Amino acid sequence: MTVDASVLFSHHRLGTLDLPNRIVMAPLTRNRATPGTDAPHSMNTDYYVQRARAGLIVTEATQISQQGQGYIQTPGIYTDAQVEGWQAVTKAVHAAGGRIFLQMWHVGRVSHVSLQPGGGAPVAPSAIQAKTKTYLAHGFDSVSMPRALEIEEIVLTVRDYYNATVNARRAGFDGVEIHAANGYLIDQFLRDGSNHRTDAYGGSIENRTRFAIEVAEAVVNAWEPGRVGIRLSPASPANDMTDSNPAPLFDHLAHNLSALKLAYLHINESQTPGATPFDFTSLRRAFKGTYIANAGYTREKAAEAIVEGRADLVAFGKLYIANPDLVERFAKNAPLNEPDQASFYGGGAKGYIDYPTLDAS
Ligand SMILES: Cc1cc2nc3c(=O)[nH]c(=O)nc-3n(C[C@H](O)[C@H](O)[C@H](O)COP(=O)(O)O)c2cc1C
Repeated sequence: MTVDASVLFSHHRLGTLDLPNRIVMAPLTRNRATPGTDAPHSMNTDYYVQRARAGLIVTEATQISQQGQGYIQTPGIYTDAQVEGWQAVTKAVHAAGGRIFLQMWHVGRVSHVSLQPGGGAPVAPSAIQAKTKTYLAHGFDSVSMPRALEIEEIVLTVRDYYNATVNARRAGFDGVEIHAANGYLIDQFLRDGSNHRTDAYGGSIENRTRFAIEVAEAVVNAWEPGRVGIRLSPASPANDMTDSNPAPLFDHLAHNLSALKLAYLHINESQTPGATPFDFTSLRRAFKGTYIANAGYTREKAAEAIVEGRADLVAFGKLYIANPDLVERFAKNAPLNEPDQASFYGGGAKGYIDYPTLDAS
């Protein structure tokens, strides 16, 4: 059966922006920022420009502070050199007719002492080591034992998100996405597996969602709600996430984010294998803005989700790594390039800006 995918090419109003299609480039860490400064450079600009026909680009996760970094050569947004690097990216993407949001990242405990200021311990809601790996100069390695953030440090971390948003505006982005997914700092606060705090940031659902909501408020205050989205992964065990009862937790969070009038909720719908299926439609109902669905979508599944009202936009990760002209390929129902896993993280132009377009192949 052939699916009518024309809905993918219809316009959508996202906050203050008019998107020409429903196809989003998902955030994708590629570990190719400038060594030493973690600033984007001309090869990174080329990579995003190649993908500028997307309705929206969400950049690779970008640390808001040195403490927020967990892998080598991921870009930052906290120094002037990094802001200048991103300015070149946004200018070129806009010149190519695209729209681009910055994904703002603090990894929390998913880091290594070798990346932390002064070689100190990474920070987390609680001093619980994650059973997960990070990517360092010598390859993949276990993450370090974290220490619990002091209350005063939580306030400073919220301020780092505020400052990162100010820097993203200076860098010419169309908006920012708060990375609250995949087991990083905000997710670590949300889940009772990683958050054992006994103060106002731990225990009840209200307390565990407090940090996420304070970050969202700070980011909105630094810009405006229509320029802000957030990414969650309620059913993913990535980076050692566990929670005793995720459904009411994420429902509470989605209602509060909706009250802040954020432009979008971006849901990584990956599921813990074997667990009770998570009902994503409850989040769709709770949040009044745009719903972006992600994980495992094809052209056909994406069109179906939009037609059936389960999503407004669909983000593609691995397909966007391998197909810079994904929009054209979907429009023509053309064959797709296969992604090369060996070049996902780190390296040069190979597996980054050399995937052929339809015209070239
Ligand atoms: C190489 C690679 C890097 C990724 N980096 C990020 C990231 O920086 N931020 C994020 O939220 N998700 C990241 N993800 C997850 C993707 O955005 C996406 O959720 C995942 O690939 C599933 O979507 P897909 O089936 O369309 O690929 C990454 C995935 C891959 C394969």
